[in-house]
Amino acid sequence: MKIYVTDDYKGMSRKAANILSAQVILKPNSVLGLATGSTPEGMYAQLVDWYRKGDLDFAAVKTVNLDEYVGLEPTHEQSYRYFMQHHLFDHVNINPANTNVPDGLAADPAAECAWYNQVIRDMGGIDLQVLGVGGNGHIGFNEPGRAFELETHVVNLKEETISANSRFFASRDDVPRQAMTMGIKSIMMAKKILLMASGEAKAEALRLALTGPVTPEVPASILQLHPYVTLVADKAAASKLEGLV
Ligand code: F6R
Repeated sequence: MKIYVTDDYKGMSRKAANILSAQVILKPNSVLGLATGSTPEGMYAQLVDWYRKGDLDFAAVKTVNLDEYVGLEPTHEQSYRYFMQHHLFDHVNINPANTNVPDGLAADPAAECAWYNQVIRDMGGIDLQVLGVGGNGHIGFNEPGRAFELETHVVNLKEETISANSRFFASRDDVPRQAMTMGIKSIMMAKKILLMASGEAKAEALRLALTGPVTPEVPASILQLHPYVTLVADKAAASKLEGLV
């Protein structure tokens, strides 16, 4: 695993944007697996900036997002489709038809997940998957204790994830209870992984994930078995990675 430790969030965002840009420059028709959340926001802002300066071209890029809440329409401000439009897609020359996020309003979420798996296969798999990590070690919405063997599937969110994400909703009751997420198997099939983490609140999750046993209790621990992971973390998030950095 290649590890970059930066001073702060800004540095993490810039380094992650560097890595994603390199991928797109070297392979303009890359399939990018994308994440939402606070962690990659700064990276997307940096990519938009470099696009505006003429340094990046998304014309042939294809994307596939990790996850989406069940029940939120694409225009809902807390939907992950909205997040992606707002932070990246609306600001660069990506072909909207080449962007994929599970449909939160799908009548049959399980069928939507099966379709999503086929979309990923038809694109030839993911070249570079961006990941954040939850304070409980989740990646995507793969919560602790779930099987490693799944591709995209419907999950019931854990209480701690509902609480963590309630900061974005008017009230805790407004947070959806289910989501569709790429499974650990889908994530592990990506050719390369870019794991990002910022802040002290992620330090223990990173320590468990990268220096502890590989266990479904810490979903991100599976990344120890992936052949090509790059971690970009700020000092605070990397503060407990003794022996690794
Ligand atoms: C987002 C996702 C989640 C987040 C994780 C960290 O698409 O799948 O696993 O990466 O919950 O969230 P933030 O970055 O908001 O701390």
